[in-house]
Amino acid sequence: MTTVPRSALISGASAGIGATFARHLAARGYQLLLVARRADRLHDLAAQLTEQHKVRCEVFAADLTDPASPAAILRYADEQGLNIDVLINNAGLSGKTAFADTPWDSLAGEIQLMVTAQTELAHRVIPGMKERRWGRIVNLSSLAAFAPPAASLLYTGIKSYVLNTSQALDMELKPHGIHVTALCPGFTHTEFHDVMGTRDKANRLPGILWQQPEAVVAEGWKAVQNGKPVCVPGLVNKISVAAMKPLPIRLAYLAGKTLNPFKNS
Ligand SMILES: NC(=O)c1ccc[n+]([C@@H]2O[C@H](COP(=O)([O-])OP(=O)(O)OC[C@H]3O[C@@H](n4cnc5c(N)ncnc54)[C@H](OP(=O)(O)O)[C@@H]3O)[C@@H](O)[C@H]2O)c1
Repeated sequence: MTTVPRSALISGASAGIGATFARHLAARGYQLLLVARRADRLHDLAAQLTEQHKVRCEVFAADLTDPASPAAILRYADEQGLNIDVLINNAGLSGKTAFADTPWDSLAGEIQLMVTAQTELAHRVIPGMKERRWGRIVNLSSLAAFAPPAASLLYTGIKSYVLNTSQALDMELKPHGIHVTALCPGFTHTEFHDVMGTRDKANRLPGILWQQPEAVVAEGWKAVQNGKPVCVPGLVNKISVAAMKPLPIRLAYLAGKTLNPFKNS
Protein backbone atom coordinates (compact mmCIF):
# COMPACT_ATOMS: atom_id res chain seq x y z
CA MET A 1 0.00 0.00 0.00
CA THR A 2 1.39 3.44 -0.91
CA THR A 3 0.85 6.21 1.61
CA VAL A 4 0.14 9.77 0.44
CA PRO A 5 2.78 12.19 1.73
CA ARG A 6 1.54 14.86 4.11
CA SER A 7 0.93 18.35 2.73
CA ALA A 8 2.00 21.73 4.10
CA LEU A 9 0.58 25.12 3.22
CA ILE A 10 3.17 27.86 3.74
CA SER A 11 2.21 31.53 3.54
CA GLY A 12 4.96 34.03 2.78
CA ALA A 13 7.03 31.34 1.06
CA SER A 14 8.68 33.70 -1.43
CA ALA A 15 11.38 34.86 1.01
CA GLY A 16 13.00 34.56 4.42
CA ILE A 17 11.57 32.25 7.06
CA GLY A 18 8.72 31.00 4.82
CA ALA A 19 11.08 29.95 1.99
CA THR A 20 13.29 28.30 4.60
CA PHE A 21 10.32 26.35 5.97
CA ALA A 22 9.57 25.23 2.39
CA ARG A 23 13.13 23.86 1.98
CA HIS A 24 13.04 22.26 5.44
CA LEU A 25 9.73 20.46 4.86
CA ALA A 26 10.47 19.46 1.25
CA ALA A 27 13.66 17.77 2.50
CA ARG A 28 11.43 15.78 4.88
CA GLY A 29 9.11 14.60 2.10
CA TYR A 30 6.19 17.00 2.56
CA GLN A 31 4.10 18.05 -0.45
CA LEU A 32 3.88 21.84 -0.49
CA LEU A 33 1.45 24.58 -1.36
CA LEU A 34 3.42 27.84 -1.50
CA VAL A 35 1.62 31.17 -1.11
CA ALA A 36 2.78 34.80 -1.42
CA ARG A 37 2.30 37.67 -3.86
CA ARG A 38 5.48 37.20 -5.94
CA ALA A 39 4.50 34.30 -8.20
CA ASP A 40 7.84 34.22 -10.06
CA ARG A 41 9.76 33.56 -6.85
CA LEU A 42 7.30 30.88 -5.76
CA HIS A 43 7.56 29.10 -9.13
CA ASP A 44 11.38 29.19 -9.02
CA LEU A 45 11.41 27.75 -5.49
CA ALA A 46 8.81 25.10 -6.38
CA ALA A 47 10.84 23.97 -9.41
CA GLN A 48 14.01 23.81 -7.31
CA LEU A 49 12.39 21.77 -4.54
CA THR A 50 10.65 19.36 -6.92
CA GLU A 51 13.96 18.76 -8.68
CA GLN A 52 15.95 18.35 -5.44
CA HIS A 53 13.53 16.36 -3.31
CA LYS A 54 11.07 14.85 -5.83
CA VAL A 55 8.13 16.30 -3.92
CA ARG A 56 4.96 17.79 -5.34
CA CYS A 57 5.05 21.56 -4.98
CA GLU A 58 2.06 23.73 -5.94
CA VAL A 59 1.97 27.52 -6.11
CA PHE A 60 -0.87 29.91 -5.43
CA ALA A 61 -0.08 33.61 -5.78
CA ALA A 62 -2.27 35.65 -3.47
CA ASP A 63 -2.30 38.92 -1.61
CA LEU A 64 -3.35 38.09 1.94
CA THR A 65 -4.50 41.66 2.56
CA ASP A 66 -7.41 40.74 0.27
CA PRO A 67 -10.15 39.29 2.50
CA ALA A 68 -11.09 36.83 -0.29
CA SER A 69 -7.61 35.18 -0.33
CA PRO A 70 -7.83 32.57 2.47
CA ALA A 71 -10.98 30.99 0.98
CA ALA A 72 -9.48 31.11 -2.53
CA ILE A 73 -6.25 29.41 -1.35
CA LEU A 74 -8.13 26.55 0.30
CA ARG A 75 -10.48 26.17 -2.67
CA TYR A 76 -7.38 25.71 -4.82
CA ALA A 77 -5.95 23.16 -2.35
CA ASP A 78 -9.25 21.26 -2.58
CA GLU A 79 -9.24 21.32 -6.37
CA GLN A 80 -5.69 19.97 -6.33
CA GLY A 81 -6.69 17.20 -3.91
CA LEU A 82 -4.31 18.48 -1.23
CA ASN A 83 -5.36 17.88 2.38
CA ILE A 84 -3.57 20.48 4.47
CA ASP A 85 -1.88 18.62 7.34
CA VAL A 86 0.58 21.38 8.21
CA LEU A 87 -0.15 25.10 8.12
CA ILE A 88 2.77 27.51 8.40
CA ASN A 89 1.10 30.88 8.98
CA ASN A 90 4.15 32.98 8.24
CA ALA A 91 3.42 35.90 5.88
CA GLY A 92 4.03 39.20 7.59
CA LEU A 93 5.68 42.58 7.71
CA SER A 94 5.90 45.59 9.94
CA GLY A 95 4.59 49.02 9.12
CA LYS A 96 7.15 51.78 9.41
CA THR A 97 5.31 55.07 9.75
CA ALA A 98 3.61 56.63 12.74
CA PHE A 99 0.10 55.28 13.37
CA ALA A 100 -1.65 58.63 12.97
CA ASP A 101 0.24 59.39 9.73
CA THR A 102 -0.43 56.02 8.11
CA PRO A 103 -3.44 55.73 5.80
CA TRP A 104 -6.16 53.50 7.25
CA ASP A 105 -5.94 51.13 4.27
CA SER A 106 -2.33 50.28 5.16
CA LEU A 107 -3.12 49.65 8.82
CA ALA A 108 -6.19 47.59 7.91
CA GLY A 109 -3.98 45.60 5.51
CA GLU A 110 -1.52 44.77 8.31
CA ILE A 111 -4.36 43.57 10.52
CA GLN A 112 -5.94 41.59 7.67
CA LEU A 113 -2.60 39.95 6.78
CA MET A 114 -1.29 39.01 10.23
CA VAL A 115 -4.48 38.71 12.28
CA THR A 116 -7.56 37.99 10.16
CA ALA A 117 -6.07 35.97 7.27
CA GLN A 118 -3.86 34.01 9.65
CA THR A 119 -6.80 33.20 11.91
CA GLU A 120 -9.09 32.38 8.98
CA LEU A 121 -6.57 30.01 7.37
CA ALA A 122 -6.32 28.12 10.66
CA HIS A 123 -10.10 28.05 11.03
CA ARG A 124 -10.50 26.66 7.51
CA VAL A 125 -7.90 23.86 7.81
CA ILE A 126 -8.82 22.66 11.30
CA PRO A 127 -11.98 20.65 10.34
CA GLY A 128 -9.95 18.45 7.95
CA MET A 129 -7.16 18.04 10.50
CA LYS A 130 -9.72 17.05 13.13
CA GLU A 131 -11.26 14.49 10.78
CA ARG A 132 -7.83 12.96 10.09
CA ARG A 133 -6.89 13.32 13.78
CA TRP A 134 -3.54 14.88 12.86
CA GLY A 135 -2.43 18.43 12.22
CA ARG A 136 0.35 20.90 12.91
CA ILE A 137 -0.04 24.68 12.86
CA VAL A 138 2.85 27.10 13.19
CA ASN A 139 1.95 30.74 13.70
CA LEU A 140 4.77 33.24 13.30
CA SER A 141 4.74 35.50 16.30
CA SER A 142 7.89 37.35 17.37
CA LEU A 143 10.12 38.23 20.28
CA ALA A 144 8.23 41.54 19.99
CA ALA A 145 5.24 39.79 21.60
CA PHE A 146 7.20 39.69 24.87
CA ALA A 147 8.93 43.05 24.43
CA PRO A 148 7.91 46.41 25.88
CA PRO A 149 5.36 48.27 23.73
CA ALA A 150 6.89 50.13 20.79
CA ALA A 151 5.66 53.57 19.74
CA SER A 152 3.70 53.76 16.50
CA LEU A 153 3.76 50.08 15.74
CA LEU A 154 0.76 47.78 15.54
CA TYR A 155 3.32 44.99 15.20
CA THR A 156 3.88 44.23 18.90
CA GLY A 157 0.14 44.10 19.52
CA ILE A 158 -0.44 41.88 16.50
CA LYS A 159 2.31 39.47 17.50
CA SER A 160 0.96 39.37 21.08
CA TYR A 161 -2.42 38.37 19.63
CA VAL A 162 -0.71 35.59 17.67
CA LEU A 163 1.19 34.36 20.73
CA ASN A 164 -1.90 34.36 22.91
CA THR A 165 -4.35 32.78 20.47
CA SER A 166 -1.85 30.11 19.40
CA GLN A 167 -1.64 28.87 22.99
CA ALA A 168 -5.42 28.97 23.37
CA LEU A 169 -5.85 27.00 20.14
CA ASP A 170 -3.22 24.48 21.18
CA MET A 171 -5.17 23.82 24.40
CA GLU A 172 -8.39 23.35 22.44
CA LEU A 173 -6.94 21.14 19.71
CA LYS A 174 -4.35 18.91 21.40
CA PRO A 175 -7.03 16.32 22.29
CA HIS A 176 -7.77 16.07 18.53
CA GLY A 177 -4.15 15.31 17.59
CA ILE A 178 -3.44 18.88 16.46
CA HIS A 179 -0.48 20.84 17.82
CA VAL A 180 -0.27 24.61 17.53
CA THR A 181 3.05 26.38 18.02
CA ALA A 182 3.72 30.11 18.21
CA LEU A 183 7.22 30.57 16.80
CA CYS A 184 8.75 33.75 18.24
CA PRO A 185 12.02 34.65 16.51
CA GLY A 186 14.17 37.63 17.37
CA PHE A 187 16.18 39.48 14.72
CA THR A 188 16.52 37.11 11.77
CA HIS A 189 18.46 37.66 8.53
CA THR A 190 15.65 37.92 5.96
CA GLU A 191 14.16 40.69 3.80
CA PHE A 192 12.00 41.88 6.71
CA HIS A 193 14.03 45.02 7.48
CA ASP A 194 14.43 45.90 3.78
CA VAL A 195 10.64 45.85 3.43
CA MET A 196 10.24 47.83 6.66
CA GLY A 197 12.86 50.36 5.54
CA THR A 198 14.94 49.89 8.69
CA ARG A 199 17.94 48.06 7.15
CA ASP A 200 20.47 50.77 8.20
CA LYS A 201 19.27 50.79 11.81
CA ALA A 202 19.09 46.98 11.86
CA ASN A 203 22.66 46.70 10.55
CA ARG A 204 23.87 48.73 13.52
CA LEU A 205 22.56 46.17 16.02
CA PRO A 206 25.13 43.76 17.50
CA GLY A 207 25.60 40.53 15.55
CA ILE A 208 24.93 38.44 18.65
CA LEU A 209 21.25 39.45 18.44
CA TRP A 210 20.80 37.92 14.98
CA GLN A 211 19.97 34.43 13.76
CA GLN A 212 19.91 32.84 10.33
CA PRO A 213 16.44 31.68 9.18
CA GLU A 214 17.73 28.07 8.95
CA ALA A 215 18.42 28.06 12.72
CA VAL A 216 14.99 29.57 13.47
CA VAL A 217 13.18 27.02 11.32
CA ALA A 218 15.18 24.01 12.59
CA GLU A 219 14.44 24.88 16.23
CA GLY A 220 10.85 25.85 15.40
CA TRP A 221 10.10 22.59 13.61
CA LYS A 222 11.68 20.59 16.44
CA ALA A 223 9.36 22.40 18.88
CA VAL A 224 6.40 21.48 16.65
CA GLN A 225 7.45 17.84 16.66
CA ASN A 226 7.73 17.94 20.44
CA GLY A 227 4.28 19.53 20.77
CA LYS A 228 5.55 22.78 22.32
CA PRO A 229 2.98 25.60 22.16
CA VAL A 230 5.63 28.35 22.22
CA CYS A 231 9.13 28.37 20.77
CA VAL A 232 11.60 31.20 21.28
CA PRO A 233 14.54 30.13 19.13
CA GLY A 234 18.15 30.87 20.13
CA LEU A 235 19.81 31.32 23.50
CA VAL A 236 20.09 35.11 23.31
CA ASN A 237 16.36 35.40 22.53
CA LYS A 238 15.49 33.07 25.41
CA ILE A 239 17.58 35.19 27.79
CA SER A 240 15.91 38.37 26.46
CA VAL A 241 12.44 36.93 27.13
CA ALA A 242 13.44 35.88 30.64
CA ALA A 243 14.83 39.37 31.29
CA MET A 244 11.77 41.18 29.94
CA LYS A 245 9.09 39.08 31.62
CA PRO A 246 9.26 40.39 35.18
CA LEU A 247 9.40 44.08 34.17
CA PRO A 248 6.80 46.13 36.07
CA ILE A 249 4.29 47.79 33.72
CA ARG A 250 5.66 51.33 34.16
CA LEU A 251 9.22 50.17 33.57
CA ALA A 252 8.18 48.20 30.47
CA TYR A 253 6.50 51.36 29.11
CA LEU A 254 9.64 53.41 29.78
CA ALA A 255 11.89 50.76 28.22
CA GLY A 256 9.64 50.62 25.15
CA LYS A 257 9.79 54.39 24.88
CA THR A 258 13.57 54.66 25.09
CA LEU A 259 15.07 51.41 23.77
CA ASN A 260 13.13 50.79 20.52
CA PRO A 261 15.85 50.92 17.83
CA PHE A 262 13.28 51.49 15.05
CA LYS A 263 11.28 54.38 16.53
CA ASN A 264 10.41 57.22 14.17
CA SER A 265 12.34 60.32 15.05
N1 LIG B 1 13.02 38.73 10.27
C1 LIG B 1 12.79 39.00 11.53
O1 LIG B 1 13.64 39.64 12.21
C2 LIG B 1 11.53 38.49 12.21
C3 LIG B 1 11.50 38.46 13.61
C4 LIG B 1 10.36 38.00 14.25
C5 LIG B 1 9.27 37.58 13.52
N2 LIG B 1 9.31 37.63 12.15
C6 LIG B 1 8.09 37.20 11.43
O2 LIG B 1 8.43 36.16 10.53
C7 LIG B 1 7.51 36.15 9.45
C8 LIG B 1 8.31 36.06 8.15
O3 LIG B 1 9.09 37.22 7.99
P1 LIG B 1 10.52 37.21 7.32
O4 LIG B 1 11.47 37.69 8.33
O5 LIG B 1 10.78 35.94 6.63
O6 LIG B 1 10.32 38.43 6.27
P2 LIG B 1 10.49 38.50 4.69
O7 LIG B 1 11.79 37.91 4.26
O8 LIG B 1 10.22 39.92 4.33
O9 LIG B 1 9.30 37.57 4.15
C9 LIG B 1 7.95 37.94 4.33
C10 LIG B 1 7.05 37.03 3.50
O10 LIG B 1 5.70 37.44 3.69
C11 LIG B 1 5.08 37.61 2.41
N3 LIG B 1 4.05 38.63 2.43
C12 LIG B 1 4.15 39.91 2.87
N4 LIG B 1 3.00 40.58 2.65
C13 LIG B 1 2.16 39.70 2.04
C14 LIG B 1 0.83 39.78 1.53
N5 LIG B 1 0.13 40.94 1.57
N6 LIG B 1 0.26 38.68 0.99
C15 LIG B 1 0.95 37.51 0.92
N7 LIG B 1 2.21 37.36 1.38
C16 LIG B 1 2.81 38.46 1.91
C17 LIG B 1 6.23 38.01 1.48
O11 LIG B 1 5.93 37.64 0.14
P3 LIG B 1 5.51 38.62 -1.07
O12 LIG B 1 6.19 39.92 -0.84
O13 LIG B 1 5.99 37.86 -2.28
O14 LIG B 1 4.03 38.68 -1.00
C18 LIG B 1 7.35 37.13 2.01
O15 LIG B 1 7.29 35.85 1.43
C19 LIG B 1 6.68 37.42 9.58
O16 LIG B 1 5.41 37.11 10.13
C20 LIG B 1 7.47 38.28 10.55
O17 LIG B 1 6.64 39.15 11.29
C21 LIG B 1 10.41 38.07 11.48
